[in-house]
Amino acid sequence: MTFFQDNKFGRSRGHNIYEPRDASIFFIMMRLNVKVALLFLLSIGVLTIVVLYSICGTSEKDWQRLKYNPKALDLQGADEIDCDINGEYVISCRKEGEEVYIPFSFLHRYFEVYGKLATYDGLERFEWSHSYSKIYHPKSKYDPKGVFMYFENYNVEVRERVKCVSAIEGVPVSTQWDSQGYYYPTQIAQFGLSHYSKNLTEPEPRRKVIDDSEKDLAKWIVPVNAKLERSYDSSVESRILKFVTSENYLEGIRLRMDHVMYFVMRLDIILSSNSSFTVTLQKRETKELYYLHYICSDIWITVQDNNIYHGIGTSQEWKTLTRDLIIDLQKGLSYLDKDRSKQKLPRSKLKIICMTLRGSGSIDNLTLSSSEHIQQFYDAAEWFVRHQDRETGGWQIYARRRVAPGFNELQPGWYSAMSQGQAISVLSRAYYHSGGDIRYLTAALKGLKPFNVPSSEGGVRAIFLDKYTWYEEYPTKPSLFVLNGFIYSLLGLYDLMSISPHGHAQEAESLYTEGITSLKAMLPLFDMGSVTVYDLRHFTLGISPNLARWDYHATHVNQLLLLSTIEDDSPFKTTAERWIGYMSGKRADHN
Ligand SMILES: *[C@@H]1O[C@H](CO)[C@@H](O)[C@H](O)[C@H]1NC(C)=O
Ligand SMILES: *[C@@H]1O[C@H](CO)[C@@H](O)[C@H](O)[C@H]1NC(C)=O
Ligand SMILES: *[C@@H]1O[C@H](CO)[C@@H](O)[C@H](O)[C@H]1NC(C)=O
Repeated sequence: MTFFQDNKFGRSRGHNIYEPRDASIFFIMMRLNVKVALLFLLSIGVLTIVVLYSICGTSEKDWQRLKYNPKALDLQGADEIDCDINGEYVISCRKEGEEVYIPFSFLHRYFEVYGKLATYDGLERFEWSHSYSKIYHPKSKYDPKGVFMYFENYNVEVRERVKCVSAIEGVPVSTQWDSQGYYYPTQIAQFGLSHYSKNLTEPEPRRKVIDDSEKDLAKWIVPVNAKLERSYDSSVESRILKFVTSENYLEGIRLRMDHVMYFVMRLDIILSSNSSFTVTLQKRETKELYYLHYICSDIWITVQDNNIYHGIGTSQEWKTLTRDLIIDLQKGLSYLDKDRSKQKLPRSKLKIICMTLRGSGSIDNLTLSSSEHIQQFYDAAEWFVRHQDRETGGWQIYARRRVAPGFNELQPGWYSAMSQGQAISVLSRAYYHSGGDIRYLTAALKGLKPFNVPSSEGGVRAIFLDKYTWYEEYPTKPSLFVLNGFIYSLLGLYDLMSISPHGHAQEAESLYTEGITSLKAMLPLFDMGSVTVYDLRHFTLGISPNLARWDYHATHVNQLLLLSTIEDDSPFKTTAERWIGYMSGKRADHN
């Protein structure tokens, strides 16, 4: 799985990653061959003397200028020189005295290092970096009731591979391995965990009640032939707002607004067929209008010009809708045209100018807020309660998945240890947060079942060399042994064993202990001396290793740092520190 689109790479000064093609004027020193090297050593001696001399002879300010200002190196006098790359091809470089300067655009491609120009404190610099990902050092011991890893930084729903947030379920729909869209349990769990974490880290939401049929009553404009009435509904023990409009739905019952503050809407709603609840947004600059229609239908999303439709399902019972209107608008815009999603429409450029009721139905508790994290977290938790397979305890993944040539294709309906584990992390928190709602605990405990079933028989359990148990993110044949997915599954087991009431924790605990034993034993297999591997396909298939991209490498490190706060006596911390070194170019010693 991947979930790095929204990673903030910690590029603090807000400059773009260096685009090599735009500037080949930057040359980085490189020694080329042994003869040159010898001469180079000699010249270093001379240079040191010269530099020492200049330091003594120049002020600190001049020295800074010499150190940072490339112009001070004066490449004007440099000669062009061809550089023969491994006897394979030639690139154009510069030579000044015995020093050779190689274009950074070349080094970037050759070594996969990164660089960018940055100006701050009035100086332009070139910043070189070996990797691009962020390490999160845990501030305290990991708490299964608290923030999940660093997921408060995640914003799952804006990812490109999220088709929309389903208004039927309140959870994201993935297009990662199937462009039609499907519910991907891992993504749903990450959505839930990110909202749970944001609830703990973000400022308190501000809320404006638009209409609750009790104290706050909005001034709806009711056309002739339409009816709006407030009445008591005993099923919800509350006064509610009932509406009917004429056959000609165009007009509708309207509420004019001029609202620029909060864009997360929440309401209780029942819609008859052919009925809709519409929010009209306006782009403040151009006055362009967008219509977000919530309709009685099972479609996820469909779009016609500036009309964006989300189905809320067809059930005739009350349901609570929580909608981030900005996300709904962005998903609608990118539905027809991927490029349109890039034209960012931030909250500050929009306002809500109208809400419209058409057809017939009832609403209540209509509010706008700055956020509704805990509701969105519970939307995810409820999804896991509703969609668990009763027999197997698994959350099925309906996308076909071929991980790589040589592995069997996973057929729709497969289970993933990562999905199971992350779902268990959501449900454990829901059990805790709800003050002990047993449905969440029951679903979490049932979610352990696939951990006991071999991956060859529809479960997620694999054995490495007949000895070590592993929980497979992708239960392939042969086994794949994906590291990050395995650790996520261990965190789920840890969450459950920590949160379960007395007498319910044993199974999770023994699965966790078994997994940690394997992790301690097998961790060295993922260490390649300057990078890590994502999985063990080089061992199980005998093919080339699958090196982890830097963001996955950083995930490995972040996971180990977190585990080291709960496993005192473990190799996790020292391993993590060594792996952090790889991110700034450190390598294991060679013989
Ligand atoms: C977090 O959830 C609690 C309810 O458990 C709520 O009172 C609080 O306002 C929420 N805070 C944020 C930032 O979402
Ligand atoms: C609206 O909110 C009130 C107060 O929380 C609640 O009692 C009522 O049941 C809600 N209405 C609906 C239709 O759920
Ligand atoms: C829904 O609308 C369509 C077309 O406007 C109409 O043919 C159909 O009878 C309506 N269905 C209901 C249940 O009102």
